[in-house]
Amino acid sequence: MARILIGVSGGIAAYKAVEFARLATLAGHGVRVTMTDAASRFVGAATFEGITGAPVLSDEFSRDPLRGTYPGEEMPAHDPISHLAVVEAADAFAIAPASANTIAKLAAGICDSFLTTSFLACTAPRIVAPAMNGRMWDAAATRANVALLRERGVEVLEPGEGALASRGEHGPGRMPEPPEILAAVEASLGARADLAGKRVLVTAGGTREAIDPVRFIGNRSSGRMGIALAEAAARRGADVTLVAANVALPAAGVERVDVSSAAELEAATRSAFAGSDVLLMAAAVADFRPAAPNEHKLVREQGDDLSLALEPTADVLAGLAAGRRDGQVLVGFAAEHGGEFVERARGKLERKGIDAIVVNDVSDSSIGFESGDNEVTFVSGAGEERLPRGSKREVADAILDRVAKLG
Ligand code: CTP
Repeated sequence: MARILIGVSGGIAAYKAVEFARLATLAGHGVRVTMTDAASRFVGAATFEGITGAPVLSDEFSRDPLRGTYPGEEMPAHDPISHLAVVEAADAFAIAPASANTIAKLAAGICDSFLTTSFLACTAPRIVAPAMNGRMWDAAATRANVALLRERGVEVLEPGEGALASRGEHGPGRMPEPPEILAAVEASLGARADLAGKRVLVTAGGTREAIDPVRFIGNRSSGRMGIALAEAAARRGADVTLVAANVALPAAGVERVDVSSAAELEAATRSAFAGSDVLLMAAAVADFRPAAPNEHKLVREQGDDLSLALEPTADVLAGLAAGRRDGQVLVGFAAEHGGEFVERARGKLERKGIDAIVVNDVSDSSIGFESGDNEVTFVSGAGEERLPRGSKREVADAILDRVAKLG
């Protein structure tokens, strides 16, 4: 079931958005609603709140009591920026009704409300259900705005034709009926159910190796890419287990096992791997750990020349690849620093005996680690392919498009 964000703008058809929210909720989706000020002159927030079981969002400056989550989900400990969190988690964003004014703002990228701001930040499928007077729909400005949105990949539904709100007027401009909008939203989600029935294991985050009870050797992996992969696989129908090493972010729709050290990650991954069809090894696993972590906190008086003896950890991925059963697909992830980074990744692919490796160049500071964007190269037996730069969510789907073909 998906997380659907509904944006209600001002128009008489706002009453039909209530029915749309009801149908989407009844279908089992988690639904959140954002309304413009104009919309609240037509219908009340209380109606949507009663139907969806979640507060309505209208002001981008007030906190979301659900902290960006959808009904039934666990809230994160951290209070995020509401309009970014709720839209980042959305699987689809439907604007219904979309008035001529709102369509113009969406086309121009104007951010003057929760609805318009979150629309601009949305990387999930966006569906627009126009509703307006026929002459406004036919106006050159509206035609140009709709064409521009479509050119950018936004699905603008055709309005219905018939009796319009103003008495005696007929023509195009009626909002598409709620079941039709829901069908368009579900089609945008279900376009790729190519992992249905597959069991996908994802590791994410970065391991921590204890130096003493309070210090560790760690790395800067936030876990964002692994979470994007896990959530994308779940959206595509897979049964997903996420082994998360020190990941502070929530992950929706997956079974999660939290770990900290490389040894814990290895144990959790090994036990889940046996029943998995695909392993996406996105975690940054330490290659070395302190050989003898101190039982007590080290103190400065220890001396001027403190040195740490390190010992190698097991290569989890290579170990699992060596003992795999037929049909299991293993994908590694490598962050390489500049130069011949694709060649180095191919070397790892061969050494570890895996099916593919996803590599990014960490010498480019605008991608990778803590950034929202990523750009990767997919290296497999079939060759190398540079995937288009995009949000981690878009990149996750592009990776899964290729992984689905390896099985
Ligand atoms: N990996 C692993 N176990 C380790 C280290 C890495 O399973 N102890 C996995 C990572 O999760 C990743 C892949 O191996 O999917 C490549 O990680 P990377 O650190 O780049 O590989 P290394 O073989 O450790 O190479 P390097 O010497 O560049 O660190």
